[in-house]
Amino acid sequence: MKPVDTSFCLAHLLVCVNQRHNSSLPCCASGDAEAIYQKLRGWIEAHNMLSRIWITRTECLGWCHVQGSTVAIYPQNIWVRAMTLEDCDALIEEHLRPLLNPASPTRR
Ligand code: FES
Repeated sequence: MKPVDTSFCLAHLLVCVNQRHNSSLPCCASGDAEAIYQKLRGWIEAHNMLSRIWITRTECLGWCHVQGSTVAIYPQNIWVRAMTLEDCDALIEEHLRPLLNPASPTRR
């Protein structure tokens, strides 16, 4: 086992795109999950930050009892649930754009 150097990673976004089959329980895929993933990834890519701001599709993150999708951002430990595609701009401005600024206190 070898540890991985992640010191260059500013943030890792976990975007739940879980699809429940054969269940009446809500799931992120029944909302905007894939579109949210694509929009956030597109923004990161447009800023040439894919190597420093990671984004991963995930299975259930455990907050799907409300309509909408779940996104977590680490190491900032920011969790957003009931997220819609329209919420992406606010998430970007509040949590991602500051990572582009070297003076940002959230940058490692
Ligand atoms: S299905 Fe997305 S948080 Fe559960």
